[in-house]
Amino acid sequence: MNSGSVLGIFDSAELLVNAIPRVKAKAQGRLEAYTPYPIEGIDKLLGLRKSPIGGMVLIMGVIGAISTILFELWTSGIDYPLTTAGKPHLSWEAFIPIMFEVTVLFATFTAGLGMLLLLNRLPMFRDPMLSAKSMPLITRDKFALAVEFSGSDLDVDSITKLFQQAGAGQVEVIAKPAPVGAVSPNFFAGLFATIAVSCVIAGLLMYWAIKLFPVSPPISHMLVQPRLNSQRADGFFKNGFGMRLPVAGTVRRGAVSYSITSQENAAGLVNPYPRTNEILNQGRRTYNTYCSVCHGILGDGHPMLTAAYGAKPANLVSQQMIDLRDGEVYHVIRMGRNAMPSYTADLAENERWATVHYIRTLQRAMNARDDDIK
Ligand code: HEC
Repeated sequence: MNSGSVLGIFDSAELLVNAIPRVKAKAQGRLEAYTPYPIEGIDKLLGLRKSPIGGMVLIMGVIGAISTILFELWTSGIDYPLTTAGKPHLSWEAFIPIMFEVTVLFATFTAGLGMLLLLNRLPMFRDPMLSAKSMPLITRDKFALAVEFSGSDLDVDSITKLFQQAGAGQVEVIAKPAPVGAVSPNFFAGLFATIAVSCVIAGLLMYWAIKLFPVSPPISHMLVQPRLNSQRADGFFKNGFGMRLPVAGTVRRGAVSYSITSQENAAGLVNPYPRTNEILNQGRRTYNTYCSVCHGILGDGHPMLTAAYGAKPANLVSQQMIDLRDGEVYHVIRMGRNAMPSYTADLAENERWATVHYIRTLQRAMNARDDDIK
C-alpha cells in the first residue's frame, strides 16, 4: 500500500493532544485531527499553515481597486470625456463608489471561489475519509488523529504501534486517502474554457436576437419615448421652444469677461489670432456649424431658414460688412444683435475670432476680381 491513512482513535481530547507531538516526531506524512468539537490550539500543534484566504482577498481587492480607478480615468478622461454639470472630467470623487463596488466584488468572489475551489477542493464532493468505520464515533465522543500519506510507502505497523503507545484505543487503516494538494490544472483549464465558450455563444445569440431575428425590432426604446425635440416647437414651456436656452448671463467655461456694450466701442479691438491655415479651418467649422443656418454657407444671406424666422440675416459679404472693423464683427458674435442670438455661451474666444477671419475669407472669395484669374 503506498497511499492511505492510518487513524488512531482516542477517548479524550487530552490523549489526542498529547499524542500529536509524539506521532509527529516519528511518522512521515500529513497529520490531520478529527474531533467532535473544535479544540483550541490544535492547528498549531499539527503544524497546519494559516489559511491564505485573507492574503488572497487583500491582493485581489487591491487589484480590483487599482484596475477600476485606471479604467475610470481612461474612459472619463481620455477615451470619452463627457462634461457633466460643468465638472472637470477627472473628478476622482465620483470614481470612489464604483471603485468601492469593484473592490468588494473582486474580494468576495476571491473569498467565495478561492475557499470552495482551492481550499475545499470543491470538484471532489466527498472526502474518502468519510468512509472510515470510526467516522460515526468521531462525530460523537471520540477523537481521531490521522497520518495521511500518498506516493510513499509507509510502515503501517510501526505507526499502529506508535498510536497504541500514545494511548489510542483503536487503530484503523484506510486504503483510499484524502488526496493532498489543490485541484488539478486541467480542471481550471476546463472551467475557463467553458466560461469563454459560453460567453462567445451568449454574444452570438444576443447578436442574432437583436440584429437578425426577424420579429425582434432593433432596440429603439429610447427613440420612441415621449420627449422634447430640441428643434421643434412644443407647448410644454411658456416660450413654446422644445429646446432650453442657457440661463441668462451664462458664460462658457474659461470665458474672458467682456464689458464693451456698443458695436462702435468694439471697433478698436484687434484680432489676436494669426490668419493661419489651422485657424481658418477652425473658423470654417465654427461658421458652418453656428452661423450658416442663418447667413448661408457662403455668407451671402441666403439662409436655410423658413419665413417663420421673421428676420432677415445680414448679407455678410456685402460692401457694408466688408467695411466693418474686425472688432465690430466680433462684438456682434459676442453680444448678438436684434434677432441674432449672442454667442457668449456657445463659442470659445478663439472660435469667435477664427470665425471673424473666415468671414473675411468669404468676403474676399465672394468678391473676386477679374484679375484674380490672371
Ligand atoms: C438665428 C439666426 C442667426 C444666426 C445663427 C447668426 N446670425 Fe448673424 N445675424 C442674424 C440677423 C437676423 C442679423 C441682422 C441683425 C440686425 O441687424 O437686425 C445678423 C447680423 C449679423 C452681422 C451684421 C452685424 C451688423 O453690424 O449689421 C454679422 C457680422 C453677423 N450676423 C455674424 C454672425 C456670425 C459670425 C454668426 C455665427 C457665429 C451669426 N451671425 C449667426 C441672424 C443670425
